[in-house]
Amino acid sequence: MLFTAIPDIASKARRTITIAIAAALGAGVVVAVQQTASAAEATLGAAAAQSGRYFGAAIAAGRLGDSTYVNILNREFNSVTAENEMKWDATEPQRGNFNYNNANRIVNHAIGQGKSIRGHALLWHQQMPGWAQGLSGSDLRNAAINHVTQVATYFRGKIHSWDVVNEAFADGGGGGRRDSSLQRTGNDWIEAAFRAARAADPGAKLCYNDYNTDGINAKSTGIYNMVRDFKARGVPIDCVGFQSHLTNSAPSDYQANLQRFADLGVDVQITELDISGSNQANAYAAVTRACLNVARCNGITVWGIRDSDSWRTGQNPLLFDASGNKKAAYTSVLNTLNSVTPNPSPTPTPTPTPTPTVTPTPGPGGPCRVAYTLNAWNTGLTSSITITNTGSSAINGWSLVFGLPSGQTITSGWNATYSPSSGQVTARNVSYNGSIPAGGSVDIGFQANHTGNTSAPSSFTLNGNTCSRA
Ligand code: G3I
Repeated sequence: MLFTAIPDIASKARRTITIAIAAALGAGVVVAVQQTASAAEATLGAAAAQSGRYFGAAIAAGRLGDSTYVNILNREFNSVTAENEMKWDATEPQRGNFNYNNANRIVNHAIGQGKSIRGHALLWHQQMPGWAQGLSGSDLRNAAINHVTQVATYFRGKIHSWDVVNEAFADGGGGGRRDSSLQRTGNDWIEAAFRAARAADPGAKLCYNDYNTDGINAKSTGIYNMVRDFKARGVPIDCVGFQSHLTNSAPSDYQANLQRFADLGVDVQITELDISGSNQANAYAAVTRACLNVARCNGITVWGIRDSDSWRTGQNPLLFDASGNKKAAYTSVLNTLNSVTPNPSPTPTPTPTPTPTVTPTPGPGGPCRVAYTLNAWNTGLTSSITITNTGSSAINGWSLVFGLPSGQTITSGWNATYSPSSGQVTARNVSYNGSIPAGGSVDIGFQANHTGNTSAPSSFTLNGNTCSRA
């Protein structure tokens, strides 16, 4: 009789209920079956996965030697975010010198454990390396876009969602952009970053991420207007992150705010959740329920594992105590994930498609094929080139010749040397990509300044052979 009232629970939970009820009856106590019955899945990740969502945590490479930490991470979470290791100061400490050591410790751990990865964050006015803090204008713009291109290219295929731009809107009532050196490069810096990220990793969802945007307020409305404009103009944005650093409760219109963004045609993600205060367990449940109630809410990330790992020192805003024990907030999240019938279940997200600004022109056939993607902003552009060997034998050592349209001047490039920087350019292989097996490809690219002409080269010749265009 009791079992027919709770048909969906796992047998293990049924046994728990049987024992609990038997014990309670023996003691003459009335029990609420619903509380015990909710534990259909035993971990946060598995419980979230029931509705196709993830439950993640921000983690630090420096803590991966801590067995208590790693045991909780491996057991409970099916998504991770690097708390600091993918930020600009960590990944490009000197201009053009990239260091992915700590980021890779996180990426490799996540991949080894079958967890998805949120990339955080390609551009942010904080945690910029010292050299970039000294730049301004087009020099900073070029450096920033190059950073986006390089980092997103490096991690291509491994990132579920990138925070492409973080915290670019101002607090207070205006709903406008925050002043920063990045903002002073021109209001289009955010869309330039999104276009560069799409060109570099077409499979990653591209998010804008911010804080104090958890309810409907001037700041979140400013972001809402930007997203609406981006969608209208075809700027590639897929998701909005709501950090949700909260105290005691979520705003009463938290779910409505998520829903209004979802209604613009983007996914929403709760990206840095932590909640302090005595109402913590209820507030965590409310946030979890709101995500479950919004079809396009992909998942929740908490900003740390144990209270002792939190950036909010002394506020104990997380789901595990300093010893790694589950807190009441943990149980309330797990029960909410298990007990709420997600309705509707999340919409499967189509793989984002790149939006190149150039329509490729098919050329004559040949032993090579070139795919060329160009993203331009007011005075600069980024070009990504994939060279495919369509012949039947390997190419060993290559040079790709193309005419750069007038007014375009290459300022930096990757995976090839480029000479000269304008006019008839020859891109030559570097030491590690000189051999292209039959059917294989190499990816190269460059940044360039332009004076208004943002067209693409009309033809490409590889080792003297004209390439077809993809
Ligand atoms: O690693 C150095 C260490 O070598 C040095 O001895 C120590 C001295 O202060 O600093 C350590 O670096 C600190 C780093 O965290 C790693 O612990 C930085 O000082 C500190 O500023 C940095 O704080 C991070 C903060 O972003 C930077 O603004 C926090 O860990 C991180 O949780 C926090 O995360 C941000 C999100 O990226 C964006 N949203 C807000 C969120 C909270 O501020």
